Amino acid sequence: MNGTPYTGTGTVTVTLDGTNQTATLPLAAGTIGPSVADIRKLYSDLGIFTFDPGYGGTAACESKITYIDGDAGVLLYRGYPIEQLAEHSNFLEVAYLLLNGELPDAAQMAEFDRGVLRHTMLHEQLRSFFNGFRRDAHPMAVLCGVVGAMSAFYHDSLDINDPDHRRISAFRLIAKVPTIAAWAYKYAIGQPFVYPRNSLGYAENLLYMMHAVPAEEYHVNPVLARALDLILVLHADHEQNASTSTVRLAGSTGANPFACIAAGIASLWGPAHGGANEAVLKMLAEIGHARHIPEFIEKVKDKNSNVRLMGFGHRVYKNYDPRAKIMQHTCHEVLRELGIKDDPLLDLAVELEHVALHDDYFVSRKLYPNVDFYSGIILKAMGFPTSMFTVLFAVARTVGWVSQWMEMVEDPSQRIGRPRQLYTGAPQRDYRPLDARG
Ligand code: SDX
Repeated sequence: MNGTPYTGTGTVTVTLDGTNQTATLPLAAGTIGPSVADIRKLYSDLGIFTFDPGYGGTAACESKITYIDGDAGVLLYRGYPIEQLAEHSNFLEVAYLLLNGELPDAAQMAEFDRGVLRHTMLHEQLRSFFNGFRRDAHPMAVLCGVVGAMSAFYHDSLDINDPDHRRISAFRLIAKVPTIAAWAYKYAIGQPFVYPRNSLGYAENLLYMMHAVPAEEYHVNPVLARALDLILVLHADHEQNASTSTVRLAGSTGANPFACIAAGIASLWGPAHGGANEAVLKMLAEIGHARHIPEFIEKVKDKNSNVRLMGFGHRVYKNYDPRAKIMQHTCHEVLRELGIKDDPLLDLAVELEHVALHDDYFVSRKLYPNVDFYSGIILKAMGFPTSMFTVLFAVARTVGWVSQWMEMVEDPSQRIGRPRQLYTGAPQRDYRPLDARG
């Protein structure tokens, strides 16, 4: 392949060398992007599996939701470029688009808004779940636990084969996750929970629940609300990433949507995935000053150090992550709006990015800044504690997880996910009693 993906149809023939056994695999072409070889009959035809740890070259499903061209740095939500949605849309409209496939008209948007707003409050008994955690519990642990516990409260929407149950579960998850996120923060800082205000916008309400206190009026800074709404848009969905694949695999067993989303939250938490935004801030704090960048870069290049340049690299993007570009621009906007003249962390990040983009180690491996490189800096400038960065990522990605879960459940051809393996363990052998060993 000379760098351009094959987008044709037809067949691929696989022959077992030294035999006359061949398998003819049909090729399926997408709307855009590389075609896929359908290997479902490979084992029955040739008696072999394919081997693809990490699924780097495997299409695990058919989807119409999000398209990524990693070489060109393209990201489309239902065909719309992320740059256009970032500039012209907002998170709830993007949520409608991801869930329904089309941009809403005014009536559809108003109905969707009402659908979400009616579900922003939690069952009062869910409040007591928070008290079971230590005050210093990581908010991702709280989010994961409380979302999973929703299965124990909303029995009237657990039948995944009932479209009405799927729809109300979607609304409940999209509407309640911000409330759980805000209450996880309030619990950590020892402040009373603040109930949602349905007169506020989605991002505005989250900021209100996080920062308001019962003792006085609180008005959300519109600049911060808009910046957070944009950050949520950028993080809403991203094809078959690790946490989305986790949600799909859990959902393929028929598990209820709350349990599936809790599994996605757990998967997102890892520093190689959604936990990277928090890891970027820790990395910048460890570097401390631009003069230490060369020493840090040398450590990254040393395979034995296990040190990675967090916020750089991506399994799919071998070009700039388009979200990182938008995030970088927003970062400067937010700092300017907040009157933060020079943010040492941002200055350090900009210098680190410049050094890496001109260092052959990163250039030769096509390692560019990803969405997490700048998001942490903006979130910190907006006053979020580092421990809340991945929580905010999860708030946004809940829309993508629910959209992908719905698409999978509604796909008549879907079946339980069950990968195979290459077994290299011990051959069959007989048990030996203790006195016969050694
Ligand atoms: C997200 O999948 C998604 O879409 C995820 C996401 C989403 O929206 O859902 O986009 C969100 O998770 C973004 C990624 C956030 N993670 C980080 O920023 C953590 C740092 N980056 C990585 O650890 C890494 O780049 C991954 C995990 C993101 C991608 O890993 P891959 O594709 O398995 O890459 P690899 O390990 O095969 O690396 C290829 C080479 C290796 O070197 P060689 O063995 O060829 O010598 O590149 C090196 C790696 O050592 N490498 C890095 C590096 N990332 C890869 N070296 C230094 N620093 C890095 N960050």
